[in-house]
Amino acid sequence: MAKVKTQFICQSCGYRAPKWLGRCPDCDSWNSLVEEQVIESPEAKRQGWGLSVAQPPKPITEIEAQEGERLKTRIGEFDRVLGGGIVAGSIVLIGGDPGIGKSTLLLQVSDRLSQEGQKVLYVSGEESPRQTKIRGERLGIRASNLLVLSETSLEEIFKELQKLNPSVLMVDSIQAIFTSELQSAPGSISQVRESSARLMQLAKGTGIPIFLIGHVTKEGAIAGPRVVEHMVDTVLYFEGGASHPYRILRAVKNRFGPTNEIGVFEMKESGLEEVLSPSEIFLSERPENVSGSVVVPSIEGTRPILVEIQALVSPSSLAVPRRTAIGVDYNRVALLVAVLEKRMGLKLYNQDIFLNVTGGIRVDEPAMDLGITISVASSFLDKPVPPKTVLFGEVGLTGEVRGVGQAEVRVRESIKLGFERCILPKTNKERMKKVEAIQLKGVESLGEVVKLLF
Ligand code: TYD
Ligand code: MG
Repeated sequence: MAKVKTQFICQSCGYRAPKWLGRCPDCDSWNSLVEEQVIESPEAKRQGWGLSVAQPPKPITEIEAQEGERLKTRIGEFDRVLGGGIVAGSIVLIGGDPGIGKSTLLLQVSDRLSQEGQKVLYVSGEESPRQTKIRGERLGIRASNLLVLSETSLEEIFKELQKLNPSVLMVDSIQAIFTSELQSAPGSISQVRESSARLMQLAKGTGIPIFLIGHVTKEGAIAGPRVVEHMVDTVLYFEGGASHPYRILRAVKNRFGPTNEIGVFEMKESGLEEVLSPSEIFLSERPENVSGSVVVPSIEGTRPILVEIQALVSPSSLAVPRRTAIGVDYNRVALLVAVLEKRMGLKLYNQDIFLNVTGGIRVDEPAMDLGITISVASSFLDKPVPPKTVLFGEVGLTGEVRGVGQAEVRVRESIKLGFERCILPKTNKERMKKVEAIQLKGVESLGEVVKLLF
């Protein structure tokens, strides 16, 4: 017999309580508990949808490690972010702000896959087939092996799946899907969790790879419980400012490839286009010989990207000067500004400081430290960094410059883009082979860099 139970479930973390509470004791968010009815039916649990075959435990030495051939979409940027293509039976969650292009991306991927001869089922819970068709026309999609289903009931989707037996399933979006086994509304935490769990079983049981689109909350996390992120194999975030045409697909979790790998796309009239040389794009409009601008070779996943950091330091008329940081971590900037004040004696306490990474990209790694500090110093002193110079390195609290990972990759990318001088941590330089194409300058402290440049 099925048992109906009333529970109060926190919509932001999934905490369950038997009675209503104003504040979630687990994640401390206010007013997040919502009454949901949970049907506990022992039969349904045990049946488990009959898709997976139970297997006895095996010695680890006898398990086949071959992961099998990966399905290639031939969209190079997409394949790389996944770690080299789609793995059979994997489940991938794609999150991002509304209107960033998630549906566009998945439709384009579906199109490519069906051109490669795969049968793709695109389930849209948010748009009618006509709307999807209109979007498809804009994208120039003609594939006949791409089936569109407008459905939100998980049970109906499963029925169609059994009939069609597609080789790839796309679900747009996981928040729109619901199972009638739960009485809570679609998009609620139990529904999202349950639907994801079912789809997960399906993927593992049948080997059909599944892509889920997930909405993002105001705070930037995928709406619904974090558990969904834990459940799936791969979590990709589709990022980019609404005012920039560039979109970055970033792997924040990947069981089948490196994390932090990024793919760069440009949103055009006819859909998303790959950007093959992102460094060139991010530096294309860079002013030369202007104070406050520096170029830093950053590493995103396995690939180097040269980015431009700009700083503007100007006297403040406010009691508490303004500090903004776009594209870099605000707290890191505050720390580095303090280092500049204390160790370099720059009087920044009465200055407004604005920092921006151009092109709408976000870079969060310690190797950016040297670039951030030097751009602020350059703007404050109103002295430009000499042209054709790049720099990277972590800056410590005493003003020392510390070594960072993958120095050689950074240097190689800088050479490729025509830079002639690279300022880098001494420890990195000592461990590197000699290179002719670029002048390497190893440094130990911030003071040394400032003396060298200005
Ligand atoms: P969409 O894929 O609907 O975003 P999401 O699913 O993440 O909410 O993309 C919507 C935006 O993309 C919309 O503002 C229009 C723009 N767009 C283009 O610029 N070119 C195109 O070819 C398409 C299909 C969309
Ligand atoms: Mg959409």
